[in-house]
Amino acid sequence: MTHTRTALLLVGSPFGFRSTSSSLGSYLMDRLTETGFTTNKVHIHKSVKSQEGIDELLHLVGISDLVVLTFPLYVDSLPAPVIKTMEIITKHREEAADTRRQKIIAISNSGFPKANQNLVALEVCRCFAQKSGFEWAGGLALGMGPVISRKPLNELGGMVRNVKKALDVTALALSEGRIIPEEATKHMTKSILPRRLYMWMGNRLWKYEAKKNGVIDRIREKPHST
Ligand SMILES: Cc1cc2nc3c(=O)[nH]c(=O)nc-3n(C[C@H](O)[C@H](O)[C@H](O)COP(=O)(O)O)c2cc1C
Repeated sequence: MTHTRTALLLVGSPFGFRSTSSSLGSYLMDRLTETGFTTNKVHIHKSVKSQEGIDELLHLVGISDLVVLTFPLYVDSLPAPVIKTMEIITKHREEAADTRRQKIIAISNSGFPKANQNLVALEVCRCFAQKSGFEWAGGLALGMGPVISRKPLNELGGMVRNVKKALDVTALALSEGRIIPEEATKHMTKSILPRRLYMWMGNRLWKYEAKKNGVIDRIREKPHST
């Protein structure tokens, strides 16, 4: 009898299943399903609020052949509930002495345009994998995450073609027992939009928010600069 492989998506955004992190992870899960994986999803922020949620998360991690951790970059690092989850999983696995071979990958997306902004956070994930006994199968870094605006990738047209290519290549590699190939990391780091356009849109949004909040005449203030 052949063993059905199971993949778990851990979504580490406070916006849960309506987040850029979830859009990226869900697209990958759909591709993995096509290759024969059974998939489960967990919203980290919701799960770590109760012992019941933590127990369910640990159970799902325990039965998975592959864990896919997706999260937004927060202050050049990972959101606090994601770090807490890493600590809980590490402690649990030390005590359980689990010997099962399990792979883990991570997908970090940032608001700043350059994908390499995410590299330190992905390195944190690699260290977590090492400490908790997972096989690190690589990380993907995406800049300009807000362009995805929490929508399914298939609703975003050609703009996300490189993001989808990266995830397609990743799914194929993982289904064949390989780690994320360099080709996938390269596709994912390509800019979704021209940098100038993204900056222009970002500036417009800040001005709109400042106007809405009645502080447009104070937008250049630097209260904490020396
Ligand atoms: C509290 C907070 C801190 C953030 N810190 C960074 C940061 O250090 N660098 C960055 O590029 N983006 C930063 N962002 C932007 C998010 O990474 C970005 O909006 C991301 O696309 C959100 O993804 P999500 O929809 O999966 O939550 C921050 C956002 C918030 C709310």
